[in-house]
Amino acid sequence: MGSFALPTGFRHLPGYFDRSAQEALVAEIRTVVAAAPLYVPRMPRSGKEMSVRMTNCGDLGWVTDKERGYRYQPTHPETGAPWPSIPSSLLKLWKNEAQFAPPPQACLVNFYDASAKMGLHQDKDEQEFGAPVVSVSLGDDCLFRIGGVGRSDPTRSLRLSSGDVVILGEQSRLAFHGVDRIYPGTSTLLKNGGRINLTLRRVTPKPCGAQTG
Ligand code: SIN
Ligand code: MN
Repeated sequence: MGSFALPTGFRHLPGYFDRSAQEALVAEIRTVVAAAPLYVPRMPRSGKEMSVRMTNCGDLGWVTDKERGYRYQPTHPETGAPWPSIPSSLLKLWKNEAQFAPPPQACLVNFYDASAKMGLHQDKDEQEFGAPVVSVSLGDDCLFRIGGVGRSDPTRSLRLSSGDVVILGEQSRLAFHGVDRIYPGTSTLLKNGGRINLTLRRVTPKPCGAQTG
């Protein structure tokens, strides 16, 4: 923890989704995963496995592998099928909180088991940084870390719980962030435990004439 100010545009909305909304979201994500199975993402060049398991819904999905690295594509890397569509409750979340029209193009689904984590990184594979990143936590708590736009800027840690929403917009759109750890057994939402993170993003530039939301 530090007493410095985080970049503007960082928002943490604890308990945004109540238990029944969380259960409905999990059911929708199970449908997504049935059509677009979780796969093992690999780091560019080294081919090292990430500890999270991933899939996507939306017109575009974020993927990574040894050969071609970080990118967005319209199809699942293993099945070749188009990604399933984004659940309407998430489109509604974007409409209400992102203050950015048009709607999100990508929803990354990250699954963390008890030992998974995600190193400090920036979300910068998009062409549109005017749109925020909107993310939802489901299942076990995690320790989330957020810093500034420089890798060595001071960081602050906060615990995210099931149903929480985090928004990285404005000056925090390119802030470094990551997940240091999962707290196993802190939620009963997922019957086998673990944490799901859903991340909504715009990828391509806003079409000319689009409303500002
Ligand atoms: C991410 O940065 O892709 C995931 C963040 C999270 O799991 O909360
Ligand atoms: Mn990220």
